[in-house]
Amino acid sequence: MSKIENKAENGSGEGVEKGTADDPKDDKGLGLGVIFFMVAFLVCFLSGWLLFPKLLYSKKEQPFNFDHKLHVAEVGDCETCHFLREDGTFSGLPSMESCLECHTDEPMGETKDEAIFAREYVAKEKEVPWLVYSKQPDCVFFSHAAHINGAGMDCITCHGPIGESTTSRPYEENRITGYSRDIWGKNIWGIKKHSWDRMKMDDCAVCHKKETGQQGYCFQCHK
Ligand code: HEC
Ligand code: HEC
Ligand code: HEC
Ligand code: HEC
Ligand code: HEC
Repeated sequence: MSKIENKAENGSGEGVEKGTADDPKDDKGLGLGVIFFMVAFLVCFLSGWLLFPKLLYSKKEQPFNFDHKLHVAEVGDCETCHFLREDGTFSGLPSMESCLECHTDEPMGETKDEAIFAREYVAKEKEVPWLVYSKQPDCVFFSHAAHINGAGMDCITCHGPIGESTTSRPYEENRITGYSRDIWGKNIWGIKKHSWDRMKMDDCAVCHKKETGQQGYCFQCHK
Protein backbone atom coordinates (compact mmCIF):
# COMPACT_ATOMS: atom_id res chain seq x y z
CA MET A 1 0.00 0.00 0.00
CA SER A 2 2.62 2.51 1.08
CA LYS A 3 4.84 1.45 -1.81
CA ILE A 4 2.16 2.32 -4.29
CA GLU A 5 1.66 5.70 -2.67
CA ASN A 6 5.39 6.36 -2.79
CA LYS A 7 5.47 5.54 -6.45
CA ALA A 8 2.63 7.92 -7.09
CA GLU A 9 4.43 10.71 -5.21
CA ASN A 10 7.67 10.05 -7.02
CA GLY A 11 5.80 10.16 -10.28
CA SER A 12 4.23 13.54 -9.62
CA GLY A 13 7.56 14.79 -8.22
CA GLU A 14 9.27 14.08 -11.51
CA GLY A 15 6.49 15.93 -13.23
CA VAL A 16 7.13 19.07 -11.20
CA GLU A 17 10.87 18.92 -11.75
CA LYS A 18 10.34 18.69 -15.47
CA GLY A 19 8.00 21.66 -15.40
CA THR A 20 10.50 23.94 -13.62
CA ALA A 21 13.40 22.77 -15.78
CA ASP A 22 11.47 24.00 -18.77
CA ASP A 23 10.96 27.41 -17.20
CA PRO A 24 14.26 28.64 -15.67
CA LYS A 25 13.00 32.26 -15.21
CA ASP A 26 10.40 31.19 -12.64
CA ASP A 27 13.06 29.34 -10.72
CA LYS A 28 15.25 32.44 -10.44
CA GLY A 29 12.34 34.52 -9.17
CA LEU A 30 11.64 31.97 -6.51
CA GLY A 31 15.34 31.83 -5.53
CA LEU A 32 15.49 35.62 -5.10
CA GLY A 33 12.28 35.51 -3.10
CA VAL A 34 13.73 32.96 -0.74
CA ILE A 35 16.93 34.98 -0.32
CA PHE A 36 14.94 38.16 0.29
CA PHE A 37 12.80 36.37 2.84
CA MET A 38 15.84 34.94 4.62
CA VAL A 39 17.54 38.35 4.81
CA ALA A 40 14.38 40.04 6.12
CA PHE A 41 13.90 37.23 8.61
CA LEU A 42 17.49 37.51 9.79
CA VAL A 43 17.24 41.29 10.23
CA CYS A 44 14.05 40.97 12.28
CA PHE A 45 15.42 38.05 14.24
CA LEU A 46 18.70 39.76 15.11
CA SER A 47 17.13 43.11 15.99
CA GLY A 48 14.63 41.31 18.20
CA TRP A 49 17.29 39.16 19.80
CA LEU A 50 19.98 41.79 20.32
CA LEU A 51 18.16 45.12 20.41
CA PHE A 52 14.94 44.32 22.27
CA PRO A 53 16.65 43.31 25.55
CA LYS A 54 18.66 46.56 25.41
CA LEU A 55 15.53 48.63 24.90
CA LEU A 56 13.48 46.71 27.46
CA TYR A 57 15.83 47.47 30.36
CA SER A 58 17.03 50.85 31.59
CA LYS A 59 20.36 50.80 33.43
CA LYS A 60 21.20 52.63 36.64
CA GLU A 61 24.67 52.69 38.16
CA GLN A 62 25.17 52.08 41.89
CA PRO A 63 26.26 55.26 43.79
CA PHE A 64 29.84 53.92 43.67
CA ASN A 65 31.58 50.63 43.16
CA PHE A 66 31.65 48.16 46.04
CA ASP A 67 34.29 45.42 45.95
CA HIS A 68 32.86 42.30 47.63
CA LYS A 69 35.97 40.18 47.17
CA LEU A 70 38.23 42.70 48.91
CA HIS A 71 35.79 43.16 51.81
CA VAL A 72 35.06 39.47 52.34
CA ALA A 73 38.84 39.00 52.63
CA GLU A 74 39.05 41.91 55.12
CA VAL A 75 36.02 40.95 57.19
CA GLY A 76 36.20 37.18 56.88
CA ASP A 77 32.53 36.28 56.26
CA CYS A 78 29.19 37.49 54.85
CA GLU A 79 27.32 37.52 58.15
CA THR A 80 29.20 40.49 59.66
CA CYS A 81 27.50 42.70 57.07
CA HIS A 82 24.40 40.66 56.14
CA PHE A 83 23.08 39.04 59.31
CA LEU A 84 19.90 37.60 60.80
CA ARG A 85 18.76 39.46 63.91
CA GLU A 86 17.68 37.70 67.12
CA ASP A 87 14.01 37.99 66.11
CA GLY A 88 14.66 36.25 62.76
CA THR A 89 14.43 39.38 60.58
CA PHE A 90 17.21 39.94 58.05
CA SER A 91 19.49 42.97 58.27
CA GLY A 92 19.64 43.21 54.47
CA LEU A 93 22.20 45.71 53.25
CA PRO A 94 24.66 47.00 55.85
CA SER A 95 24.13 50.48 57.22
CA MET A 96 26.89 53.09 57.36
CA GLU A 97 27.55 52.17 60.98
CA SER A 98 29.17 48.86 59.98
CA CYS A 99 31.50 50.60 57.50
CA LEU A 100 32.73 53.09 60.10
CA GLU A 101 34.57 50.35 61.94
CA CYS A 102 37.27 50.74 59.30
CA HIS A 103 36.45 53.80 57.19
CA THR A 104 36.69 57.46 58.14
CA ASP A 105 36.28 60.54 55.97
CA GLU A 106 40.01 60.15 55.22
CA PRO A 107 40.33 57.43 52.53
CA MET A 108 42.76 54.59 53.32
CA GLY A 109 43.57 53.98 49.70
CA GLU A 110 43.77 55.87 46.45
CA THR A 111 40.74 54.63 44.54
CA LYS A 112 38.09 56.90 43.06
CA ASP A 113 35.29 54.87 44.67
CA GLU A 114 36.67 55.12 48.16
CA ALA A 115 37.13 58.87 47.70
CA ILE A 116 33.45 59.26 46.68
CA PHE A 117 32.39 57.12 49.64
CA ALA A 118 34.49 59.15 52.10
CA ARG A 119 33.57 62.55 50.72
CA GLU A 120 29.88 62.14 49.83
CA TYR A 121 28.69 59.72 52.48
CA VAL A 122 31.03 59.28 55.47
CA ALA A 123 31.85 62.99 55.82
CA LYS A 124 28.19 63.99 55.32
CA GLU A 125 26.93 61.17 57.59
CA LYS A 126 24.57 60.00 54.83
CA GLU A 127 23.41 56.40 54.23
CA VAL A 128 24.38 55.04 50.82
CA PRO A 129 21.27 54.72 48.60
CA TRP A 130 22.12 51.26 47.20
CA LEU A 131 19.85 49.83 44.52
CA VAL A 132 18.57 46.36 45.51
CA TYR A 133 18.85 43.89 42.62
CA SER A 134 16.58 41.30 44.19
CA LYS A 135 13.85 43.64 45.44
CA GLN A 136 10.43 41.99 45.19
CA PRO A 137 7.17 43.96 44.82
CA ASP A 138 5.64 45.15 48.10
CA CYS A 139 2.91 42.49 48.07
CA VAL A 140 5.51 39.69 48.49
CA PHE A 141 6.61 38.31 51.84
CA PHE A 142 10.04 36.71 51.85
CA SER A 143 11.89 35.36 54.87
CA HIS A 144 15.66 34.86 54.77
CA ALA A 145 15.55 32.93 58.06
CA ALA A 146 13.28 30.23 56.59
CA HIS A 147 15.72 29.67 53.73
CA ILE A 148 19.12 30.18 55.39
CA ASN A 149 18.44 28.58 58.79
CA GLY A 150 15.33 26.50 58.02
CA ALA A 151 16.40 25.06 54.67
CA GLY A 152 20.16 25.59 55.04
CA MET A 153 20.48 27.24 51.63
CA ASP A 154 23.49 29.16 50.34
CA CYS A 155 23.26 32.80 49.23
CA ILE A 156 24.51 31.87 45.78
CA THR A 157 21.44 29.69 45.03
CA CYS A 158 19.23 32.76 44.77
CA HIS A 159 21.67 35.64 44.26
CA GLY A 160 24.44 34.19 42.15
CA PRO A 161 28.11 34.96 42.78
CA ILE A 162 27.66 38.59 43.96
CA GLY A 163 29.69 37.82 47.09
CA GLU A 164 32.76 37.00 44.94
CA SER A 165 32.51 40.01 42.63
CA THR A 166 34.96 42.91 42.54
CA THR A 167 32.58 45.39 40.88
CA SER A 168 28.93 46.31 41.40
CA ARG A 169 27.05 45.68 38.18
CA PRO A 170 24.43 48.19 37.01
CA TYR A 171 20.86 47.79 38.23
CA GLU A 172 18.59 46.99 35.31
CA GLU A 173 14.92 47.92 35.46
CA ASN A 174 12.26 46.51 33.16
CA ARG A 175 10.66 49.56 31.51
CA ILE A 176 7.27 47.88 31.21
CA THR A 177 6.86 46.22 34.59
CA GLY A 178 9.28 48.24 36.74
CA TYR A 179 10.79 44.98 38.02
CA SER A 180 14.50 44.44 38.48
CA ARG A 181 16.06 42.19 35.85
CA ASP A 182 17.13 39.80 38.63
CA ILE A 183 13.45 39.03 39.19
CA TRP A 184 12.08 39.30 35.69
CA GLY A 185 14.88 37.20 34.17
CA LYS A 186 18.43 37.55 32.88
CA ASN A 187 17.31 35.97 29.62
CA ILE A 188 14.25 37.67 28.17
CA TRP A 189 13.13 34.44 26.48
CA GLY A 190 12.81 32.89 29.91
CA ILE A 191 15.62 30.36 29.50
CA LYS A 192 17.20 29.58 32.86
CA LYS A 193 20.78 28.36 33.07
CA HIS A 194 21.30 29.05 36.78
CA SER A 195 18.96 28.91 39.77
CA TRP A 196 19.53 32.67 40.26
CA ASP A 197 18.69 33.81 36.70
CA ARG A 198 15.12 34.70 37.63
CA MET A 199 12.96 34.95 40.80
CA LYS A 200 9.34 35.23 39.70
CA MET A 201 6.38 33.57 41.44
CA ASP A 202 6.86 30.35 39.47
CA ASP A 203 10.54 30.16 40.42
CA CYS A 204 9.65 30.29 44.13
CA ALA A 205 6.84 27.80 43.66
CA VAL A 206 8.83 25.30 41.57
CA CYS A 207 11.51 25.04 44.26
CA HIS A 208 8.91 24.81 47.06
CA LYS A 209 7.17 21.99 45.22
CA LYS A 210 10.46 20.17 44.77
CA GLU A 211 11.82 20.72 48.29
CA THR A 212 8.67 20.60 50.44
CA GLY A 213 6.17 18.77 48.20
CA GLN A 214 3.77 21.75 47.93
CA GLN A 215 3.71 25.09 46.14
CA GLY A 216 2.35 26.87 49.21
CA TYR A 217 -0.83 28.86 49.72
CA CYS A 218 -1.16 32.47 48.59
CA PHE A 219 -0.68 34.07 52.02
CA GLN A 220 2.57 32.23 52.64
CA CYS A 221 4.25 34.55 50.13
CA HIS A 222 1.81 37.46 49.94
CA LYS A 223 0.81 40.08 52.43
C1 HEC B 1 37.03 45.40 58.16
C2 HEC B 1 37.29 46.73 57.64
C3 HEC B 1 36.34 47.29 56.58
C4 HEC B 1 34.98 47.43 56.65
C5 HEC B 1 34.03 47.01 57.76
C6 HEC B 1 34.58 48.10 55.41
N1 HEC B 1 35.69 48.34 54.64
FE1 HEC B 1 35.70 49.25 52.81
N2 HEC B 1 37.70 48.90 52.65
C7 HEC B 1 38.50 48.32 53.61
C8 HEC B 1 39.87 48.26 53.14
C9 HEC B 1 41.07 47.73 53.91
C10 HEC B 1 39.86 48.81 51.83
C11 HEC B 1 41.04 48.97 50.87
C12 HEC B 1 41.61 50.34 50.98
C13 HEC B 1 42.70 50.53 49.94
O1 HEC B 1 42.37 50.93 48.82
O2 HEC B 1 43.83 50.26 50.28
C14 HEC B 1 38.49 49.20 51.55
C15 HEC B 1 38.07 49.79 50.37
C16 HEC B 1 36.81 50.28 50.14
C17 HEC B 1 36.39 50.96 48.93
C18 HEC B 1 37.26 51.20 47.71
C19 HEC B 1 37.43 49.88 47.00
C20 HEC B 1 37.72 49.94 45.53
O3 HEC B 1 38.00 48.89 44.96
O4 HEC B 1 37.64 51.01 44.93
C21 HEC B 1 35.06 51.28 49.09
C22 HEC B 1 34.20 52.02 48.10
C23 HEC B 1 34.65 50.78 50.38
N3 HEC B 1 35.74 50.18 50.97
C24 HEC B 1 33.38 50.89 50.90
C25 HEC B 1 32.95 50.27 52.07
C26 HEC B 1 31.58 50.29 52.55
C27 HEC B 1 30.40 50.95 51.82
C28 HEC B 1 31.55 49.61 53.72
C29 HEC B 1 30.34 49.33 54.60
C30 HEC B 1 29.29 48.56 54.00
C31 HEC B 1 32.91 49.16 53.99
N4 HEC B 1 33.72 49.59 52.98
C32 HEC B 1 33.27 48.44 55.10
C33 HEC B 1 38.08 47.88 54.85
C34 HEC B 1 36.78 47.85 55.30
C1 HEC C 1 31.83 44.81 54.33
C2 HEC C 1 30.47 44.45 54.25
C3 HEC C 1 30.02 43.32 53.30
C4 HEC C 1 30.42 42.00 53.33
C5 HEC C 1 31.49 41.34 54.18
C6 HEC C 1 29.59 41.33 52.34
N1 HEC C 1 28.76 42.23 51.74
FE1 HEC C 1 27.28 41.81 50.39
N2 HEC C 1 26.85 43.80 50.20
C7 HEC C 1 27.49 44.81 50.90
C8 HEC C 1 27.08 46.10 50.34
C9 HEC C 1 27.57 47.47 50.79
C10 HEC C 1 26.16 45.82 49.31
C11 HEC C 1 25.46 46.84 48.38
C12 HEC C 1 26.32 47.13 47.17
C13 HEC C 1 26.21 46.13 46.05
O1 HEC C 1 25.12 45.63 45.78
O2 HEC C 1 27.26 45.83 45.42
C14 HEC C 1 26.02 44.36 49.26
C15 HEC C 1 25.18 43.67 48.41
C16 HEC C 1 25.04 42.28 48.39
C17 HEC C 1 24.07 41.55 47.60
C18 HEC C 1 23.08 42.16 46.64
C19 HEC C 1 21.68 42.21 47.23
C20 HEC C 1 20.72 42.81 46.25
O3 HEC C 1 19.79 42.11 45.86
O4 HEC C 1 20.91 43.97 45.85
C21 HEC C 1 24.27 40.21 47.83
C22 HEC C 1 23.51 39.05 47.22
C23 HEC C 1 25.37 40.11 48.76
N3 HEC C 1 25.79 41.38 49.09
C24 HEC C 1 25.90 38.90 49.19
C25 HEC C 1 27.04 38.80 49.96
C26 HEC C 1 27.71 37.52 50.24
C27 HEC C 1 27.25 36.18 49.71
C28 HEC C 1 28.77 37.81 51.03
C29 HEC C 1 29.84 36.86 51.56
C30 HEC C 1 30.55 36.05 50.57
C31 HEC C 1 28.77 39.27 51.26
N4 HEC C 1 27.72 39.82 50.57
C32 HEC C 1 29.67 39.96 52.06
C33 HEC C 1 28.36 44.65 51.95
C34 HEC C 1 28.98 43.46 52.31
C1 HEC D 1 15.78 27.04 45.59
C2 HEC D 1 14.65 26.78 46.47
C3 HEC D 1 13.75 27.91 46.96
C4 HEC D 1 13.46 29.09 46.33
C5 HEC D 1 13.97 29.60 44.99
C6 HEC D 1 12.53 29.80 47.17
N1 HEC D 1 12.28 29.06 48.30
FE1 HEC D 1 10.99 29.62 49.83
N2 HEC D 1 11.47 27.91 50.83
C7 HEC D 1 12.29 26.91 50.37
C8 HEC D 1 12.30 25.82 51.35
C9 HEC D 1 13.09 24.52 51.22
C10 HEC D 1 11.47 26.24 52.43
C11 HEC D 1 11.13 25.45 53.69
C12 HEC D 1 12.01 25.87 54.83
C13 HEC D 1 11.63 25.12 56.10
O1 HEC D 1 10.98 24.10 55.99
O2 HEC D 1 12.00 25.58 57.16
C14 HEC D 1 10.97 27.57 52.07
C15 HEC D 1 10.12 28.32 52.89
C16 HEC D 1 9.55 29.55 52.54
C17 HEC D 1 8.70 30.34 53.38
C18 HEC D 1 8.34 30.04 54.81
C19 HEC D 1 7.16 29.16 54.90
C20 HEC D 1 6.79 28.96 56.33
O3 HEC D 1 5.77 28.31 56.53
O4 HEC D 1 7.48 29.43 57.23
C21 HEC D 1 8.32 31.45 52.64
C22 HEC D 1 7.42 32.58 53.07
C23 HEC D 1 8.97 31.35 51.36
N3 HEC D 1 9.71 30.18 51.34
C24 HEC D 1 8.86 32.28 50.35
C25 HEC D 1 9.58 32.25 49.17
C26 HEC D 1 9.48 33.25 48.11
C27 HEC D 1 8.55 34.45 48.14
C28 HEC D 1 10.37 32.89 47.15
C29 HEC D 1 10.66 33.56 45.83
C30 HEC D 1 10.92 34.98 45.83
C31 HEC D 1 11.03 31.68 47.59
N4 HEC D 1 10.53 31.33 48.80
C32 HEC D 1 12.00 31.02 46.86
C33 HEC D 1 12.98 26.89 49.18
C34 HEC D 1 12.98 27.90 48.21
C1 HEC E 1 15.72 31.31 48.68
C2 HEC E 1 16.41 32.36 48.01
C3 HEC E 1 17.37 33.25 48.78
C4 HEC E 1 18.48 32.89 49.54
C5 HEC E 1 18.99 31.49 49.82
C6 HEC E 1 19.09 34.11 49.99
N1 HEC E 1 18.38 35.19 49.53
FE1 HEC E 1 18.80 37.16 49.83
N2 HEC E 1 17.07 37.70 48.91
C7 HEC E 1 16.17 36.82 48.32
C8 HEC E 1 14.99 37.56 47.90
C9 HEC E 1 13.77 36.96 47.21
C10 HEC E 1 15.21 38.91 48.24
C11 HEC E 1 14.26 40.09 48.05
C12 HEC E 1 13.42 40.24 49.29
C13 HEC E 1 12.39 41.33 49.18
O1 HEC E 1 12.51 42.21 48.34
O2 HEC E 1 11.45 41.30 50.00
C14 HEC E 1 16.54 38.97 48.86
C15 HEC E 1 17.16 40.15 49.32
C16 HEC E 1 18.47 40.21 49.77
C17 HEC E 1 19.22 41.43 50.05
C18 HEC E 1 18.71 42.82 49.80
C19 HEC E 1 18.40 43.52 51.08
C20 HEC E 1 16.98 43.60 51.41
O3 HEC E 1 16.55 42.86 52.33
O4 HEC E 1 16.26 44.37 50.79
C21 HEC E 1 20.47 41.06 50.48
C22 HEC E 1 21.61 41.97 50.91
C23 HEC E 1 20.50 39.62 50.49
N3 HEC E 1 19.27 39.13 50.06
C24 HEC E 1 21.60 38.88 50.88
C25 HEC E 1 21.58 37.49 51.04
C26 HEC E 1 22.67 36.76 51.68
C27 HEC E 1 23.97 37.37 52.21
C28 HEC E 1 22.29 35.43 51.65
C29 HEC E 1 23.06 34.24 52.22
C30 HEC E 1 23.39 34.32 53.65
C31 HEC E 1 20.98 35.36 51.01
N4 HEC E 1 20.58 36.62 50.69
C32 HEC E 1 20.25 34.19 50.77
C33 HEC E 1 16.36 35.46 48.15
C34 HEC E 1 17.32 34.71 48.79
C1 HEC F 1 5.95 30.58 46.69
C2 HEC F 1 5.58 31.95 46.88
C3 HEC F 1 4.28 32.43 46.23
C4 HEC F 1 3.04 31.85 46.34
C5 HEC F 1 2.64 30.56 47.06
C6 HEC F 1 2.13 32.71 45.62
N1 HEC F 1 2.82 33.79 45.10
FE1 HEC F 1 2.01 35.29 43.96
N2 HEC F 1 3.90 36.11 43.70
C7 HEC F 1 5.03 35.63 44.28
C8 HEC F 1 6.14 36.47 43.87
C9 HEC F 1 7.60 36.29 44.27
C10 HEC F 1 5.60 37.49 43.02
C11 HEC F 1 6.36 38.66 42.35
C12 HEC F 1 7.07 38.19 41.10
C13 HEC F 1 6.14 37.91 39.98
O1 HEC F 1 5.36 38.78 39.58
O2 HEC F 1 6.20 36.76 39.46
C14 HEC F 1 4.17 37.22 42.93
C15 HEC F 1 3.28 37.98 42.19
C16 HEC F 1 1.92 37.81 42.20
C17 HEC F 1 0.98 38.67 41.50
C18 HEC F 1 1.37 39.85 40.66
C19 HEC F 1 1.57 41.04 41.54
C20 HEC F 1 2.44 42.11 40.92
O3 HEC F 1 2.55 43.19 41.52
O4 HEC F 1 3.07 41.88 39.88
C21 HEC F 1 -0.29 38.19 41.77
C22 HEC F 1 -1.60 38.78 41.29
C23 HEC F 1 -0.14 37.01 42.62
N3 HEC F 1 1.22 36.81 42.85
C24 HEC F 1 -1.18 36.23 43.11
C25 HEC F 1 -1.02 35.03 43.80
C26 HEC F 1 -2.15 34.15 44.19
C27 HEC F 1 -3.61 34.41 43.89
C28 HEC F 1 -1.58 33.08 44.84
C29 HEC F 1 -2.28 31.83 45.40
C30 HEC F 1 -2.92 31.00 44.41
C31 HEC F 1 -0.14 33.31 44.90
N4 HEC F 1 0.15 34.50 44.26
C32 HEC F 1 0.76 32.47 45.51
C33 HEC F 1 5.17 34.53 45.12
C34 HEC F 1 4.14 33.66 45.45
